[in-house]
Amino acid sequence: MSSQHTEQLRSRLAADLERARARTASLTDPVEDDDLVRPHSPLMSPLVWDLAHIGNQEELWLVRDVGGREPVRADIDELYDAFKHARADRPALPLLPPAEARRYVSQVRDKVLDLIDQVPLTGRPLLTDGFAFGMIVQHEQQHDETMLATHQLRRGAPVLDAPAPPSSQVEVSGEIAVPGGPFTMGTSTEPWALDNERPAHQVEVEPYFLDAAPVTNRQYAEFIADGGYDQSRWWSEAGWRHRVDAGLEAPLHWRQDGDSWTATTFGRTAPIVPDAPVVHVCFFEAEAYARWAGKRLPTEPEWEKAARFDPATGRSRRYPWGDDDPQEQHANLGQRHLIPAPVGAYPAGASPLGVHQLIGDVWEWTSSELTGYPGFRAFPYQEYSEVFFGPSYRVLRGGSFGTDRAACRGTFRNWDYPIRRQIFSGFRCARDPRPGELG
Ligand SMILES: [Fe+2]
Repeated sequence: MSSQHTEQLRSRLAADLERARARTASLTDPVEDDDLVRPHSPLMSPLVWDLAHIGNQEELWLVRDVGGREPVRADIDELYDAFKHARADRPALPLLPPAEARRYVSQVRDKVLDLIDQVPLTGRPLLTDGFAFGMIVQHEQQHDETMLATHQLRRGAPVLDAPAPPSSQVEVSGEIAVPGGPFTMGTSTEPWALDNERPAHQVEVEPYFLDAAPVTNRQYAEFIADGGYDQSRWWSEAGWRHRVDAGLEAPLHWRQDGDSWTATTFGRTAPIVPDAPVVHVCFFEAEAYARWAGKRLPTEPEWEKAARFDPATGRSRRYPWGDDDPQEQHANLGQRHLIPAPVGAYPAGASPLGVHQLIGDVWEWTSSELTGYPGFRAFPYQEYSEVFFGPSYRVLRGGSFGTDRAACRGTFRNWDYPIRRQIFSGFRCARDPRPGELG
């Protein structure tokens, strides 16, 4: 790596760390101390846990491992180990109070900014292209999205604000025919890609149709109005059991108001936006809607092929629009807005096949379980993703309005339990061609 390139990389790492920290502050500074400490849902950690956990991971990986420095605090690792304490148990732990947590994360950050200029960004795999720093940037941004989901569950006066997303620029509807054949899935070259995105490998896909846009609030409301939640035939067995046990009747945060629906978003209640992607639905709800619509959810390879495959060159792009990092005109990312944008709002972000809004707006449920790609190697530790492989989870793709661009790629894989919907989850449908349909 040339020294000029190394210098550019160092400034980018510092800028990305700073951007993540500004966002963390925007999610914690406007919140009163007792609200930072209190659990807002058994599904979520108190915000003050996320805050100190962000600093603790940064200390473990960057200060101690990469930097070889003395611990900032050696006494709190256990408290902030996500594998030692379930989210519901975290409020009862002797957590650092807000002021102490803030002091801790900034002490850690000062040490990190100091060592960014000194560690070689080559040699160990953890250092190559600044991977460990990129991993910590993504980690903080991922927790920021989790904290944003906590804000969505928080009661009381609103504390978050953002401008409305762009309006629809083009009409987008119907389905896109995706050709069968091989494409390259995953990546071996994206420097900050996580272990589960690697390595790049060829996948053969049968021809299929994919919705040009995510399923909208209007479409989802039609499913409800048609008795979608009353008829077990649209639901899988496990899905129906969950629908009944949990009493699901509509997406989380929706409320019926006569013939129409309102949704509460970060403390503000307003009519649902008909043309915006539905959000806060679980995998089982997505699956039931798809069956009602005569379709199914896409598999993970189907989602990724539609997002990355360029039929003109036969290669897979980093993003639907090409290889450039996401810009504002491409996708609704990074908490610039606090809701999904209406369908058609991001024509510049469409894939070569003409599929819109694959990146940003809402995470999209796929029908796939989380598994390792052929040749998978856990890195830098098994708990990053390998321990989650198997039938318990479903993969979500594409990122949401609450996902930062540093934690979102055409190859990025998220996963969660099929019953979860406090996350910013939506979906789009796919289907097999009917006989003769593709000539
Ligand atoms: Fe974490």
